[in-house]
Amino acid sequence: MEERTESTAPGPLVLGIETSCDETAAAVLEAGRHVRSSVVSSQVDLHARFGGVVPELAGRAHVELLVPVVDEALAVAGLTATGRPAPVDAVAATSGPGLVGSLLVGLSGAKALALAWDVPFVAVNHLEAHLFAPLLEAPDLAYPLVVLLVSGGHTLLIEMRAPGRYRLLGQTLDDAAGEAYDKVARYLGLGYPGGPAIDRIAGQGDPTSFSFPRALLDDDGLDFSFSGLKTAVVRAVERRPDAATADVAAAFQAAVVDVLVAKAARAMSRVNAAGLCLAGGVAANSALRRRVTELSAELGVAAHLPSAAMCTDNAAMVASAGWWRLVHDGPSPLSTGADPNLALPLAG
Ligand code: KG4
Ligand code: ZN
Repeated sequence: MEERTESTAPGPLVLGIETSCDETAAAVLEAGRHVRSSVVSSQVDLHARFGGVVPELAGRAHVELLVPVVDEALAVAGLTATGRPAPVDAVAATSGPGLVGSLLVGLSGAKALALAWDVPFVAVNHLEAHLFAPLLEAPDLAYPLVVLLVSGGHTLLIEMRAPGRYRLLGQTLDDAAGEAYDKVARYLGLGYPGGPAIDRIAGQGDPTSFSFPRALLDDDGLDFSFSGLKTAVVRAVERRPDAATADVAAAFQAAVVDVLVAKAARAMSRVNAAGLCLAGGVAANSALRRRVTELSAELGVAAHLPSAAMCTDNAAMVASAGWWRLVHDGPSPLSTGADPNLALPLAG
């Protein structure tokens, strides 16, 4: 388990819980922005031999890990679950999107704790939580922001005018960027999760050794498509079976990053954005981070690249979005269910 602590300022405490996919995570956030603890227990080893997340196994692992992870997050924050009065002022948990069996574990646990402690419960949208991750590390970013949210399940370009005010600019029409990484890595025998593996090996390859398609690049819109790229990689390897894996990975990564950066640049000019943010697991990608840094310097706008721990799934971002929602919308009913297809709430 990884853990992180940060020091203190007096303020309300929120326990965040995240179990939407293959990370069991809990965090304690103070005053909406000070991370008192953030514990992430990854199930990567459990799923690696299957080449991807097995929903049934993920759900069962969350059941086993949730209590120890919550206990550890409380302990690192200097709190105990049995304390009186309640150790925290609210409990937030991801209610969707994600794997339904996994979501239910964190959601039920959070409701039970909120009930036992007699504190408000708040349901959190996982995509909105990803948008709060960069803000936790850089709360003073100017708006409007363009956020490129790239994860295993989503590829979205969002105009963020303020917390809670999002406009969808573009999205993938088929595979998510992270999904393309995972599928191509699996095909190349690089294991799971594929993103970090391709990122590592691509550094040793020649990105010009193959010229893979940049789908929808000439299209005026801001949508993405990655499924053709995966097929192009398979065809290319069939044609050149002796090609170095590092070259294939580098050329694949160059195609993904070219499209992501070009569309982000187009979005920036379209909304006259004051800044550009990356969010989601693929935001940890070294080539993407390099190119976004260059783009923001070119445009003379601020870029925020969250730390690797804030890019991938964690509960600090859930607590942060949960606290914001609690303050603005009030608590969620305990009848709130898990929604595997929950969409980002859009409001101008
Ligand atoms: O946000 P996240 O942790 O979970 C979801 O909500 O999906 O994102 C996980 C995704 C996986 O597809 C993983 O392969 C990808 O993020 N990823 C990366 C890198 N690190 C994680 N993709 C490219 N380069 C990376 N360094
Ligand atoms: Zn995520």
